[in-house]
Amino acid sequence: MSGHDGAHIELSHVTKQFALRATKDQPQNRTLVALHDLSLQVPRGEFLTLVGPSGSGKTTLLDLLGGLTRPTSGRVLVDGAEVAGPGLDRGIVFQQYALFPWRTTLANVTFGLEQGGLSRRERSERARDNLALVGLEGFEDRYPHELSGGMKQRVAIARSLAYQPGILLMDEPFAALDAQTREQLQEELLRIWRATDTTVVFITHGIEEAVYLGQRVAVLSSRPGQLKALVDIDLGEREATTDLRSDPRFVHYRHEVWTLLHDEVRRAQDAGHLKIQPDGTEKAA
Ligand SMILES: Nc1ncnc2c1ncn2[C@@H]1O[C@H](COP(=O)(O)OP(=O)(O)OP(=O)(O)O)[C@@H](O)[C@H]1O
Ligand SMILES: [Mg+2]
Repeated sequence: MSGHDGAHIELSHVTKQFALRATKDQPQNRTLVALHDLSLQVPRGEFLTLVGPSGSGKTTLLDLLGGLTRPTSGRVLVDGAEVAGPGLDRGIVFQQYALFPWRTTLANVTFGLEQGGLSRRERSERARDNLALVGLEGFEDRYPHELSGGMKQRVAIARSLAYQPGILLMDEPFAALDAQTREQLQEELLRIWRATDTTVVFITHGIEEAVYLGQRVAVLSSRPGQLKALVDIDLGEREATTDLRSDPRFVHYRHEVWTLLHDEVRRAQDAGHLKIQPDGTEKAA
């Protein structure tokens, strides 16, 4: 175990650098610091949301947790053991649905189970249960092209849940969805999280989404990514019938996170890292 009892996930002084190839404009080989000396602990069962300006290293952080890359320095630990690669203890859901187009819904979900030593029938049962969990009962035999964006993302979530990972890593999973579908999937994710005691690390660009879903919101600073703030969200008991988003406490937290993020985006602009266009997209300076 690490020195910090109970920390399920622990990032300790993590720095991640990327080597940049020389280009015509930048003839020297350079190093880009995506994350700098970042330390963060996530207790088991927590729902942590992660926000930060574009390029602040959010996906880099998730890739490290998923074992898709290794830190340049520092340590990434799960239950005290260094993350050495991808593993079935961690499920990843990406922004794009990443389904196999030639496999049915059911076969997309059983895919992750094929290494697991379950019989064919057990795999199929497990997949059906998880499809039901995300509201896709009756769609087992459809192919991805027959599904809406929201349904595809449900399949991706069901696939990650099917092998019962202790940790769910989600990189802007609802960003491509319309507002109504997004809110519906937020509800379902919260329901599943409560029912399964999974630890969730959820990246989003949506401040409202971060405050709505997270027990804590981690705010990354603009490049190089460091932990700027951790905001505890305490919204009390959630009644399905009340409009939580108009609760004064919700409004307060949203403003707090907005202010933290806004400062960072301005800092990045001042530093010439990026220019935000009027439509909200950004362009390298
Ligand atoms: N494989 C790589 N090689 C070189 N640079 C990389 C690589 N992956 C990421 N980067 C750089 O690292 C920085 C952080 O990237 P990352 O994708 O983690 O940001 P992000 O916070 O997820 O941004 P966004 O909100 O736009 O998704 C960026 O400047 C990016 O260009
Ligand atoms: Mg990203």
